[in-house]
Amino acid sequence: MAKSNSSKTPAAAKKAAPVGSGRPTAAIVLAAGQGTRMKSRHPKVMHKVAGRTLVGHVLATLKDEAVRPVVVVIGPDMGPVAKAVAPHKTVEQTERLGTGHAVLQAHGALRGFEGDVLIVYGDTPFVTAATYARMRAARAGKKPPAIVVLGFEPKDPGGYGRLVVGKKGLERIVEVKDASHKERKIRLCNSGIMLVDAAVLWRLLPKVTNKNAKGEFYLTDLVGLARKAKFTCAVVNGDEDELLGINSRAELAEAEALLQGRMRRAALENGATLTDPSTVYFSADTVVGQDVEIGPFVVFGPGVVVADEAVIKGFCHIEGASIARRAVVGPHARLRPGAEIGPDAHVGNFVEIKNAVLEQGAKVNHLTYVGDARVGPAANIGAGTITANYDGFNKSFTDIGAKASIGSNSVLVAPVKIGDGAIVAAGAVVRKDVPADALAVNEGGQKNLAGFAPRYRAKKKAEKAARSARRKT
Ligand code: UD1
Ligand code: MG
Repeated sequence: MAKSNSSKTPAAAKKAAPVGSGRPTAAIVLAAGQGTRMKSRHPKVMHKVAGRTLVGHVLATLKDEAVRPVVVVIGPDMGPVAKAVAPHKTVEQTERLGTGHAVLQAHGALRGFEGDVLIVYGDTPFVTAATYARMRAARAGKKPPAIVVLGFEPKDPGGYGRLVVGKKGLERIVEVKDASHKERKIRLCNSGIMLVDAAVLWRLLPKVTNKNAKGEFYLTDLVGLARKAKFTCAVVNGDEDELLGINSRAELAEAEALLQGRMRRAALENGATLTDPSTVYFSADTVVGQDVEIGPFVVFGPGVVVADEAVIKGFCHIEGASIARRAVVGPHARLRPGAEIGPDAHVGNFVEIKNAVLEQGAKVNHLTYVGDARVGPAANIGAGTITANYDGFNKSFTDIGAKASIGSNSVLVAPVKIGDGAIVAAGAVVRKDVPADALAVNEGGQKNLAGFAPRYRAKKKAEKAARSARRKT
């Protein structure tokens, strides 16, 4: 199953659940950076991978680890971020004076909170709940370190802060611009993620100064200050793949590829068949059951659940939809938000379903739009049927009963109800309800004009000949 990592209910997220260290854990998400290298009008953390914003990935993982409350530090003019992360609190860092300064902005929002504070970055979306759990486990026991830093050994340590480890554990973090030649050779780097005893954090953070190469208030100085105050600090080792930060569109695309690879493998490992996995695109929350078959070139937007044994043929675009057991969708079908495809139902080529329920065994096989509707069990919708659900002002509902049969090229003008077992003749425009078992056919009927066709062809031929004769003269 390519499965959501945010399966817990929001209600469950309200209770403080001490896990790992046995201590309640709050989080501060740093997201004040605009991300100039993204060359975007939108804040960096609003860019999406696998259908979910970068900050959305971070919040989903924190939710899985039952970390709460969560405070997000945003920059000025980042209303959209505040909206996207609600109901989590946001605080504004009006001037970008460094990571230490950014964390301090969240102090007020966490007043009264006792426990540990996990500091994470909004642009580092792939850190797993298991990694956070390992950090929290390092804070368990009688005399835990006051600060746990997530370190890693990147292939290229480049501009990362270096972790200076001594006999008593982590001694300090030195930013590369302030590091000595020897310190620059340290391979163990600071991921930026740390877990700090709240009491220690708020006591020492105001002591951080900006006397350094960048003139910024470095959060990393907290470690040296803690050591001076006789606290111990520790490092938990992380994996470079998880710590991929996103700073440019190219890195965003790399992140997408990485996550798609993971989700494709997860779907296969959980018992789905993907004819050509590299052409199937999942969203972070896509749920795919067992023995599901997915053809080539299928795109899943957010909010899709596919039940066991469903078949999705090639070239489908599916978002906000649920597909029940043994349903068959596609090829070339589009399921939009609110589409509920019932068990054994069929949705065929060039069919669009939006905010509509197809009940058990219903068939909508060709060239059709079904929006704001119910299609009853075993009903059959003929090719080219349209539910006319929008009059330019309001959306209206179409209700199609069990075993109803809708003829090809019909327009069902909503609001309208087609009774159980009713038949709508091909090409009908249905504006009035059709009772159960009735036949709906438009007035006027059909007129056959005997021998019309040869007369028509002869007339057209003569007209053509006259035209070309005129051109020659
Ligand atoms: C930081 C660390 C460095 C670490 C690296 C890992 C410090 C001083 N340095 O450096 O040791 O190796 O991350 O990627 O912490 N932010 C704010 N407000 C600010 C400054 C930053 O919200 O005033 C946010 C940014 O949006 C970003 C994060 O904090 O999400 C890190 O900031 P960034 O400027 O990238 O720090 P680095 O210099 O990379
Ligand atoms: Mg950085």
